[in-house]
Amino acid sequence: MNCMTIESFALPAVIVLLCLNPAAVVRGTVTQDLFVFSGFTGANLTFDGTATVTERGLLELTNGSSQLKGHAFHPVPVRFRSSPDSTVRSFSASFVFAILSTYLALSCHGIAFTVAPSTDLSSALAAQYMGLANIDNNGNASNHFFAAELDTMQNVEFQDINNNHVGVNIDGLHSLEAHAAGYYDDQKGSFVDMNLISGKVMQAWVDYDQEALRINVTIAPIGMPQPVRPLVSVTYNLSNVLLEPSYVGFSSATGPIHSRHYILGWSFAMNGPAPAIDIAKLPKLPRLGPKPQSKVLEILLPIGTAALLIVLGITAVILVRRRKRYAELREDWEVDFGPHRFAYKDLFHATDGFKEKHLLGTGGFGKVYKGVLPTSKLQVAVKKVSHESRQGMKEFVAEVVSIGRIRHRNLVQLLGYCRRKGELLLVYDYMSNGSLDKYLHYEGEKPMLEWEQRFRIIKGVASGLLYLHEKWDKVVIHRDIKASNVLLDKELNGRLGDFGLSRLYDHGTDPQTTHMVGTMGYLAPELIRTGKASPLTDVFAFGTFLLEVTCGKRPITEDGQGDQLLLVDWVLQHWHNGTLLETVDTRLQCNYNTEEAYLGLKLGLLCTHASTNKRPAMQQAMDYLNGDKPIPELKSTDLSFNIIALLQNKGFDPYIVSHPPLSDISFGTISDLSGGR
Ligand SMILES: Nc1ncnc2c1ncn2[C@@H]1O[C@H](COP(=O)(O)OP(=O)(O)OP(=O)(O)O)[C@@H](O)[C@H]1O
Ligand SMILES: *[C@@H]1O[C@H](CO)[C@@H](O)[C@H](O)[C@H]1NC(C)=O
Ligand SMILES: *[C@@H]1O[C@H](CO)[C@@H](O)[C@H](O)[C@H]1NC(C)=O
Ligand SMILES: *[C@@H]1O[C@H](CO)[C@@H](O)[C@H](O)[C@H]1NC(C)=O
Ligand SMILES: *[C@@H]1O[C@H](CO)[C@@H](O)[C@H](O)[C@H]1NC(C)=O
Ligand SMILES: *[C@@H]1O[C@H](CO)[C@@H](O)[C@H](O)[C@H]1NC(C)=O
Ligand SMILES: [Mg+2]
Repeated sequence: MNCMTIESFALPAVIVLLCLNPAAVVRGTVTQDLFVFSGFTGANLTFDGTATVTERGLLELTNGSSQLKGHAFHPVPVRFRSSPDSTVRSFSASFVFAILSTYLALSCHGIAFTVAPSTDLSSALAAQYMGLANIDNNGNASNHFFAAELDTMQNVEFQDINNNHVGVNIDGLHSLEAHAAGYYDDQKGSFVDMNLISGKVMQAWVDYDQEALRINVTIAPIGMPQPVRPLVSVTYNLSNVLLEPSYVGFSSATGPIHSRHYILGWSFAMNGPAPAIDIAKLPKLPRLGPKPQSKVLEILLPIGTAALLIVLGITAVILVRRRKRYAELREDWEVDFGPHRFAYKDLFHATDGFKEKHLLGTGGFGKVYKGVLPTSKLQVAVKKVSHESRQGMKEFVAEVVSIGRIRHRNLVQLLGYCRRKGELLLVYDYMSNGSLDKYLHYEGEKPMLEWEQRFRIIKGVASGLLYLHEKWDKVVIHRDIKASNVLLDKELNGRLGDFGLSRLYDHGTDPQTTHMVGTMGYLAPELIRTGKASPLTDVFAFGTFLLEVTCGKRPITEDGQGDQLLLVDWVLQHWHNGTLLETVDTRLQCNYNTEEAYLGLKLGLLCTHASTNKRPAMQQAMDYLNGDKPIPELKSTDLSFNIIALLQNKGFDPYIVSHPPLSDISFGTISDLSGGR
């Protein structure tokens, strides 16, 4: 006997069972004689009327509509006799069922396990006829059916005993024998009532013994083994009833009350006990109608509901607040920049909610906070830039992101950004040693940076700027080179930060002559005149920076009389007087390399030359710094330009916008200053 031959009609569970139990195979004339459904997903059944298998795998005989019937039969007829002339053999059926009603105390009309000569019961009626017969043929021996009914209505015409009974029916609805629903307890022997329409899952057994001609029907709550004493036990010779072959299945019908009749599992065997249904695999019942309520529930339910509503309300408020707190601006065009986009929530947590104690400093564009990214534990500096207008934001973010791709050991890495309403957040690598200006303009006697460190930082910044100008895909103008934008990493390497940021304030105007942004003292004269930034305006700022680092003085300094004086002019005066080395930071106390100091001062003067064509490009400046080329001697005609004088001559241009750097003198202060002179 090959297991595969059974596959065509049975579920895998049957195959397993047959394979494990060869006796079952030998006994049955194979095939249709034995099956088990623990749930009906994928089951091949013959349906009629409202019967169907639900998504969950329930066999739904009626669907809740009134006055309808439903039939489900095993598609292959069962051979009840071993030969056409012999008697009906013993059989066993078992099924798990549940009845759901919209009313607590009423339901109609019930379920009948049925053995019938045909699956076509179209002439049968619904309601009290349970889809088994009609007015004309009820009880007629030509019907040839046997049914075990679970009847939930009392129909006087059929002498029903009550509206909750189990009966054995032959050819009609008038039961041969019936009993109120319930079971006999195996231990105590007492009868336990059961309510068929309780909505609870129950199991039923139908057994026929060919020797004793006895039909036993038993029911019990689900999970309980079959009680020994049957609920209904009738002696009847089914050989006089059943035709050969016959179909086994279920019939059910509804009347005026909406009820749902479900079969959850079913097993059948000829000549042997019905195989066990795997209760763990049974599908779940749908929820329907009011549930039986206790007094406790009546009190607890409103309280519970109220509590739930309050909790839901609070949760909603928290969620809305959270949403608002972490709200971001995100637009379609940003999809391209996805990887560079940070979640505001992450930045918020990284900086402990932008607490003051994490504040690294305040610049012209906004505040900078130290943070630790939640997942990567990477230390970052988060710069909050307030920006009201959306105009130019797209271009700016595009630029920020493209700049973010630049990687160089002398540039502060931009990791990404985040956007909120009126706010842009830029995320940078954290530089543990802060910005260079703090070291240069430190109030105290001892220098905080030795000459070698300073010269190394100068070279580093030069190399970073050279990279921006000449080595990357496109020319990037920094626009804001100054000591506070030179950050020191943990090895005290100089790294340029904040490049491109000033562009944020440029957009929306003529791209050729953009509004000038920068810090006074670092601004090239032609930049003040035309507002047009170029690599050579960067070179000018770099020259100022060179002088600042070498002299340890701010770009706008004071002369002996307390008047404001450009550092460039001051160094230039000393150069004229031949006392150039006197300008070197006195705090170094002559602990410096004279050659290098000369180089720094001369290159500083060369870079801050008033005429652009006299300034070296960054590559040249780099060559001088590395000693690859000698720096040309300055001529006295190479005079710098006094920017303050220029401002006074030209008058202050109201169109010149400058962000107000707190640590450096800005245009605002310059105009005050010019007014005061
Ligand atoms: N990546 C960073 N790592 C560590 N500290 C930083 C970083 N970026 C900025 N800081 C600190 O935050 C301070 C403020 O920086 P911010 O760039 O806002 O101002 P600024 O450089 O003085 O002026 P500007 O707005 O012109 O750049 C800096 O002086 C520096 O100490
Ligand atoms: C269901 O069973 C019948 C009878 O064996 C068969 O004819 C039919 O092809 C089967 N249908 C499916 C979908 O297996
Ligand atoms: C029940 O089934 C019948 C026929 O199959 C259908 O007309 C009716 O809408 C169904 N009712 C529900 C509640 O699904
Ligand atoms: C029983 O049904 C058969 C066939 O349908 C019919 O001939 C016969 O008259 C019926 N008997 C009664 C008592 O109605
Ligand atoms: C039916 O129940 C009786 C006990 O009332 C039992 O002796 C008999 O074996 C049962 N028959 C079947 C087929 O289960
Ligand atoms: C049952 O009925 C059949 C057919 O009428 C008959 O052959 C058989 O002897 C009957 N069985 C018993 C035990 O009376
Ligand atoms: Mg800065």
